[in-house]
Amino acid sequence: MGGEKFGFLIWVSSITCLLCLCHGYVPVDNYLINCGSPNNVTVTARVFISDTLLTSTSETLAASNRNSVSDIYQTARIFTGISKYRFSVAPGRHWVRLHFSPFHYQTFQMESAKFSVSSQTHVFLSDFTVTSRVIMKEYYLNVPTDHLELTFTPSGKSFAFVNALEVVSVPDTLISGDPSFAGSHGSFNELSLQALETVHRVNMGGPRVTPDNDTLSRTWKTDSEFLVENNLVMNVSKIPSVHYKPGLATEETAPKSVYGTCSEMNSGSNPASNFNVTWVFDVETGFQYFLRFHFCDIVSKSLNQLYFNLYVDSMMVVRDLDLSSYVVNALAVAYVMDFVTVSEKKSDRIRVSIGRSSIHGVYPNGILNGLEIMKMNNSKGQLSTGTFLPGGGLTKKKNVGLIVGATVGSLFVLVAFGGFIILFKKRRGGNHSKTWTPLSTNGAASGSSGATVASLASNSSYRIPLAAVKEATNSFDENRAIGVGGFGRVYKGVLQDGTQVAVKRGNPKSQQGFAEFKTEIEMLSQFRHRHLVSLIGYCDENREMILVYEHMKNGTLKSHLYGSGLPTLSWKQRLEICIGSARGLHYLHTGDSKSVIHRDVKSANILLDENLMAKVADFGLSKTGPEIDQTHVSTAVKGSFGYLDPEYFRRQQLTEKSDVYSFGVVMFEVLCARPVIDPTLPREMVNLAEWAMKWQKKGQLEQVIDQSLRGEIVPDSLRKFGETGEKCLADYGVDRPSMGDVLWNLEYALQLQEAGVDCDQEDDNSTNMIGELPLRFNDYNNHGDTSVSVAIEGRFGEEEEESCGDDLSGVSMSKVFSQLVKSEGR
Ligand SMILES: *[C@@H]1O[C@H](CO)[C@@H](O)[C@H](O)[C@H]1NC(C)=O
Ligand SMILES: *[C@@H]1O[C@H](CO)[C@@H](O)[C@H](O)[C@H]1NC(C)=O
Ligand SMILES: *[C@@H]1O[C@H](CO)[C@@H](O)[C@H](O)[C@H]1NC(C)=O
Ligand SMILES: *[C@@H]1O[C@H](CO)[C@@H](O)[C@H](O)[C@H]1NC(C)=O
Ligand SMILES: *[C@@H]1O[C@H](CO)[C@@H](O)[C@H](O)[C@H]1NC(C)=O
Repeated sequence: MGGEKFGFLIWVSSITCLLCLCHGYVPVDNYLINCGSPNNVTVTARVFISDTLLTSTSETLAASNRNSVSDIYQTARIFTGISKYRFSVAPGRHWVRLHFSPFHYQTFQMESAKFSVSSQTHVFLSDFTVTSRVIMKEYYLNVPTDHLELTFTPSGKSFAFVNALEVVSVPDTLISGDPSFAGSHGSFNELSLQALETVHRVNMGGPRVTPDNDTLSRTWKTDSEFLVENNLVMNVSKIPSVHYKPGLATEETAPKSVYGTCSEMNSGSNPASNFNVTWVFDVETGFQYFLRFHFCDIVSKSLNQLYFNLYVDSMMVVRDLDLSSYVVNALAVAYVMDFVTVSEKKSDRIRVSIGRSSIHGVYPNGILNGLEIMKMNNSKGQLSTGTFLPGGGLTKKKNVGLIVGATVGSLFVLVAFGGFIILFKKRRGGNHSKTWTPLSTNGAASGSSGATVASLASNSSYRIPLAAVKEATNSFDENRAIGVGGFGRVYKGVLQDGTQVAVKRGNPKSQQGFAEFKTEIEMLSQFRHRHLVSLIGYCDENREMILVYEHMKNGTLKSHLYGSGLPTLSWKQRLEICIGSARGLHYLHTGDSKSVIHRDVKSANILLDENLMAKVADFGLSKTGPEIDQTHVSTAVKGSFGYLDPEYFRRQQLTEKSDVYSFGVVMFEVLCARPVIDPTLPREMVNLAEWAMKWQKKGQLEQVIDQSLRGEIVPDSLRKFGETGEKCLADYGVDRPSMGDVLWNLEYALQLQEAGVDCDQEDDNSTNMIGELPLRFNDYNNHGDTSVSVAIEGRFGEEEEESCGDDLSGVSMSKVFSQLVKSEGR
């Protein structure tokens, strides 16, 4: 085996999935590879393609077990040197599944092979040896680029092997948001950088679910082997009653066969019984874990019947969980709750329990429908501890003996890389028949509109043909117009696949239009988040500037606050909307690689979906923070009057803290339910921010709040909210909190509200405040502000929506404003 080692590369280019005619999720990338076999093999309707059309150098061997080759485990590819499979993919989330089943082939005893497997960014396996007869390893990973490389690196003089591979797209929304820490406050907000390894995936109270019964080809185990005491639960099955509600779980989150069965506490009709149902899962120490609970109340006969506590590792993570009203007031609705363990596990078990609620008079019962436990990569990007690091490197060890080893190892890696590059170039330059292109169908082309819609999920193909947009909007039928703004008109539409959309058609006369159009596409195709409105596509045919977004049924936050006659929102709803939009902005400021400043935060740019979940919209003015071109000094001060950060005019410096200021104005708008500028009011009341701050500083904010909230807000919640808003409106950016701090404080305000309301309703002390949360307003100055210089030019008022007739903050103020700009800015 020894001798020279050099690279082996499999270049898998342009693909599309077979367009499945049945509806449901169609993965953009769908590589299923039967390694080492000359044959394609079908496993439960999925075809694993042979990899032998590829040139195999002498460093890889196709190994076969028997002559009758009928499944993916009968063959393997053996690697005696560092080898890569390279897949061209649509950037985004993917499953990577590795199938192993060792056998003997010539002198290769696969059960003794030792090797590492890595991508460009993460290490999946490090010095790994397959110890069971068959094993599948599943990883969930965000691929930021247009290709994924899977590198197999033999350890020392050993070799590597694999029987089959899968690289399959996953909806970006499958795992998103900021899961709470289990049993502690705060949340984990870097999920998008995280590679996850599925450790346990369990269907409680029901049978094993196999890949053919799961739209994302997952396997769900039964829960009996994890239950500490089997006799404390009953199996329940009511698969037909499961509903999916928009914005909550979908069939991709988990199939009905998971939500439709559960393990229910077996209280034996004894209202006094008191016990916990506990499941114990083996995990590896030294890693954090992501836990996803799947819930669907299929056992209650009416709302608010079932209350129970949920524990992870003996810590309460949810008290008195009422599934029927936790998210929506309905039974049998599927949804998930995500948690992340607070720190790396010191014990090699995770205990999950459900137990009776302490609410007086509630029947002791509880259920769990499904659970996924996923290992999170450590700070070195590894999912397996060892010397191997992402990118194919080895860690440096202080130990002398190991330094030698590591150096030799690194050299060897370099040599191997050299070989790989040469081979790669040769293959690219010369013989094209050696490049492998499985399943080349018509997906990327915009030929038939069916194919186009199916390919929209890919970040690289947001373009929509004009014909499809016209069809969706009935040729821009005026009856479908739902708004008019500076940029143009907005129409409601329906795409061919039934997706409801909002279509924003740019006005070609708008001078700023094109730049904003481009910015919006760039921003929204890069940044995807639950609390940012999603771009479905755009169209630039015939000089059109058309943007197609998900349709947000409940319109703007502003329309729910004043001027439209819509029913008023409760305080809790308003807090939740503030929290959602703060989350979206926090993600923009801190998310992914670069920081983005929205620059036009206002209530008209916060949209609400059918569940009143908030999403931040309108990115036309946004800028990336640290990377803003410093030479581009003519950048105008932009934004909307009434929301603009005074420091931004004064110093012409743009930072994330300008968004924080605007958000503070939105908070007072939410609290007071009035326009941010209302020139019809007495002078001292015209500007909401000034007016509200005056009362906040006097400690009498309750004097100016929305009439319809009187008596509803718990005083502590109002105090917390007012203080947070006040900090946001601080004169100097450095004195303002970060969006992360704002978010945290809003969540606290919500907890205070809930705790206060609970205390009012019940006299027992079972619903105390959830511990003492420390106040954290101290370290604003540590958030390094990235600022750039900009010059001021006036351009205001254009962004306002004319559809809102009584909107006084728009055109009528733009003159006043440009005078302001002239006197202050130049
Ligand atoms: C395997 O499937 C691919 C793609 O469908 C096809 O090109 C190839 O000819 C098949 N190979 C065999 C041996 O059937
Ligand atoms: C529940 O269902 C599982 C899977 O079908 C089965 O293994 C288990 O024995 C059942 N438990 C009870 C208490 O019926
Ligand atoms: C799984 O799918 C098969 C068909 O593919 C179907 O007959 C069976 O009922 C399904 N099982 C469950 C539990 O949904
Ligand atoms: C249920 O588990 C929690 C956490 O381990 C524990 O505090 C509680 O006492 C348990 N309840 C019963 C009835 O055992
Ligand atoms: C996981 O790896 C990424 C790098 O890809 C890193 O940014 C992140 O912090 C790691 N996660 C943890 C929990 O350390």
